[in-house]
Amino acid sequence: MKILIANHYEELCKLSANIIKEHVQAKKDAVLGLATGSTPVGLYKQLISDYQAGEIDFSKVTTFNLDEYAGLSPSHPQSYNHFMHEHLFQHINMQPDHIHIPQGDNPQLEAECMVYEDLIRQAGGIDVQILGIGANGHIGFNEPRSDFEDRTRIVKLSESTIQANARFFGGDPVLVPRLAISMGIKTIMEFSKQIVLLASGEEKADAIQKMAEGPVTTDVPASILQKHNHVTVIADQKAAQKLKKASYL
Ligand code: GLP
Repeated sequence: MKILIANHYEELCKLSANIIKEHVQAKKDAVLGLATGSTPVGLYKQLISDYQAGEIDFSKVTTFNLDEYAGLSPSHPQSYNHFMHEHLFQHINMQPDHIHIPQGDNPQLEAECMVYEDLIRQAGGIDVQILGIGANGHIGFNEPRSDFEDRTRIVKLSESTIQANARFFGGDPVLVPRLAISMGIKTIMEFSKQIVLLASGEEKADAIQKMAEGPVTTDVPASILQKHNHVTVIADQKAAQKLKKASYL
């Protein structure tokens, strides 16, 4: 696991955008795995400005998002589908049929999960997967004690994640869906050729320390990334402040 410590959030965004940009420049039909949450918003902003500057072309790129709330239609303002269009897709030249996000309002949710997993397999896996991290160490919506063998499936959100994500629902936790579809840990580990995990802010400092330096345990789902052979963690100084090994700095 390579750990880069950015001086501030803007630098984190620039470093991660450069990884994607270089990848897409070298492989025009790259498959990208994308994440939601506030952390990648600045990365997407940077990618939009790189696109506007003519430095990156998304016309042949395919994307797969990590997760989506169950029960929300793609047009629901709090759906991850809506989030991705607002923060990235509507500003760049992606082909609409190259964008993949689980459909949260599919009445056949289990079938949706299986089809999604198959679509990633058929695409040949994911070249670069962007991940955020929950304060409890979750990746995607794989909450603590998710099985490391899990594939894309329906998941129950933990109480702490419901509270943390309530800010996107006008601050009201009651409005946060209790279920979601998420790529599983096995999906992420097996299908991602390269993983870039982003973390910003002191509320992520414990999770980052446990992920990188603690035991590999389902109590901290992100700790499994220690077993992946191509992971780059980009953390700002606040998120990195509890790391013990000075060699990262
Ligand atoms: C959500 C998403 C995760 C994301 C996490 C952290 O729960 N499902 O993929 O990593 O939030 O979000 P933030 O970046 O807003 O802290």
